[in-house]
Amino acid sequence: MTVQHAAELLSTARRGLALTGAGVSAESGIPTFRGEGGLWTQYNPIKVASIEYFMADPSAYWKVSKDRGRVALAAQPNPGHRALAALEAAGHLAAVVTQNTDGLHQDSGSRRVIEVHGSGRTVQCLDCGNREARSEVQSRLDVEMPPRCKVCGGSFLKPTVVLFGEAMPVAAVQEAFGLARQADVMLVVGSSLLVYPAAEIPLVALRSGAPMIVVNAEPTPFDKLAEVVIHGKSGEVLPEIVELIDG
Ligand code: OAD
Ligand code: ZN
Repeated sequence: MTVQHAAELLSTARRGLALTGAGVSAESGIPTFRGEGGLWTQYNPIKVASIEYFMADPSAYWKVSKDRGRVALAAQPNPGHRALAALEAAGHLAAVVTQNTDGLHQDSGSRRVIEVHGSGRTVQCLDCGNREARSEVQSRLDVEMPPRCKVCGGSFLKPTVVLFGEAMPVAAVQEAFGLARQADVMLVVGSSLLVYPAAEIPLVALRSGAPMIVVNAEPTPFDKLAEVVIHGKSGEVLPEIVELIDG
C-alpha cells in the first residue's frame, strides 16, 4: 500500500525535507491558488499579486488581500500541519520548506520552518521600512484603504510576501536548497509544483539521491518522478503515515 510505503521511507529518514504548498492549509479553510476553488480561478494573479500592480494601485491589491487576510489570520493548524511537526519532533524531518505565508506550520509546532515566499503576518512600508503586524493593519482596513504607514504616512504598505516580479528571500532560498542537497527523503505536500524556483527544490533532492513522496489532492507534474504518490487530503493522509510509524 502506498501509505505504508511512505511510512517506511519516512521512518528511516534522518534528514528528510518537506516542501509544502497551499494544499496543506486548505483544510484550515484557506483557499488554494490553483485547482478547484482556487484564488486564481477568480482573479488574474498577474493583476492582483504582482509588484507592478501593487505599486500602481495599492488599494486594488488590498481589496483582494483584505478577505484572504481575514481568513488566514483566523485559521488554525489542521492535522496535516501537526503530522509534519510530529515527523520533525521524531527526528525524521530536518525542516519544512513552505511556499505558504500563513504561519500555520509554526503554530502547529514545527520548529525549523523556511518561508521561501515570505510571511503574511508582517506588513512593511516601502517608503520608510517600518514593519507592523498584519493583524494591526488588518483591523484598520475597514476605515483606511489603502492602509497608511503609521510612521511616515506613506501609502505603500505591503505584506512581507513575495509578489510576482519580486525576488525571493536569498537566505531562505539558500537554506532550502542546502537542505535539499542533504535530504535522505523528499516529502512534497499540497503543492501544484508549477511555481519556480520553489518547485526546483524537490528536483535538487532527487538529483542528490533522495526518494520523493508526493501527497496532493490532484496529480502533479512530478508524480512520475516520485517513489510514492498519494492523491488525497494532507489532513487525512499525513496523520495516517505518522500513525503507521508510531504504531
Ligand atoms: P497551488 O494552489 O498552486 O496548488 C495547491 C495544490 O494543493 C493543488 O494541486 C491542489 O490539488 C492541492 N490540494 C488542495 N487541497 C488539498 C488538500 N486538502 N490536501 C492536499 N492537497 C490539496 O499552491 P502552491 O503550489 O502552494 O506564490 O502555489 C505556489 C505559489 O503560487 C504560491 O506560494 C503563491 C502562488 O502564486 C506566491 O505567493 C509567491
Ligand atoms: Zn513608512
